[in-house]
Amino acid sequence: MCAVTKPLTILGIETSCDETAAAVLRLEDGRPFVLSDVVLGQAAHHAPYKGVVPEIAARAHVEGLDGTIAAAMRDAGLGFADLDGVAATAGPGLIGGVMVGLLAGKAIALAHEKPLIAVNHLEGHALSPRLAEGGATFPYLLLLVSGGHCQFIAVLGVGEYRRFGSTIDDALGEAFDKLAKLLDLGFPGGPLVEKMAKNGDSTRFSLPRPLMGREGCDFSFAGLKTACAREAAALGVLSDQDKADLCASFQAAVLDVIADRTRNAMAMFDPMWGAKGRLVAAGGVAANKPIRAKLEQLAAGRGYDFIAPPLKWCTDNAAMIALAGAER
Ligand code: KG4
Ligand code: ZN
Repeated sequence: MCAVTKPLTILGIETSCDETAAAVLRLEDGRPFVLSDVVLGQAAHHAPYKGVVPEIAARAHVEGLDGTIAAAMRDAGLGFADLDGVAATAGPGLIGGVMVGLLAGKAIALAHEKPLIAVNHLEGHALSPRLAEGGATFPYLLLLVSGGHCQFIAVLGVGEYRRFGSTIDDALGEAFDKLAKLLDLGFPGGPLVEKMAKNGDSTRFSLPRPLMGREGCDFSFAGLKTACAREAAALGVLSDQDKADLCASFQAAVLDVIADRTRNAMAMFDPMWGAKGRLVAAGGVAANKPIRAKLEQLAAGRGYDFIAPPLKWCTDNAAMIALAGAER
């Protein structure tokens, strides 16, 4: 990669799932400065369906994106002419939403004669730990756990990624959301399951720990989800205590699986780090306090630093897309 000395100011656009987001970022001497960071959530649109509905998401992006971009430019105190480029998520994601953001980015780039940088959403997440002041330095081991993704990535540098393992079926956030739906807790489910689990008995239900003890660091959550559904069906009408116990038992199984998989991923990453191993957690599920605490404990046990970026950059946002675009 050639060294870029001139500061770059980039507008980032993110619309691949259920957040309509725009941000302006300046990259100066390799350091990112987030000038604005606007996220318009869509939870209220999807809550009645207890999950993200792709067509509703795409329409909400169409309605919200112009205003979100305008707000990001206003917050940054800049006009389009001040930009060096426009970066937009080009996938992977829900295709309707991706098209809305990418076309908006193309239109702005074309109208103002700026380059358009098509950004891979996962690269955005992989680089997001670098957004914070004193953020992660390369290389680091990233556990990306969201509603759509669940994988370990060794981030060695910009454009240098090695995927160590990923889910072979559901993402972890999806499993949290499906359990919440089963128990009629609401949407998004992860925080509600975490809250219920606090008052539950984690030993009441004996749930499977998929792939635990196996080689590598892939994940699987479909069987765990089905086991929860079976336990719920066997109980029939569920009391609040039943629900709390099921949430606690589910979360305990998740913690065991994460611990086992993370140990293997760190063993794979060990030969790649120089002075200090770093374990970074990103994605919406990284907001889960028991999961964070477990990762912190695992990292410390192996002499790694544990880095959890601020929550606003753990979940979908456009600052990470602008950063990936600026680096590219
Ligand atoms: O990264 P994100 O905002 O969006 C994508 O999926 O890309 O992640 C959202 C996911 C949802 O599945 C949500 O239920 C989960 O993250 N989540 C949590 C928690 N907060 C959010 N899962 C478990 N515990 C939480 N506290
Ligand atoms: Zn994401």
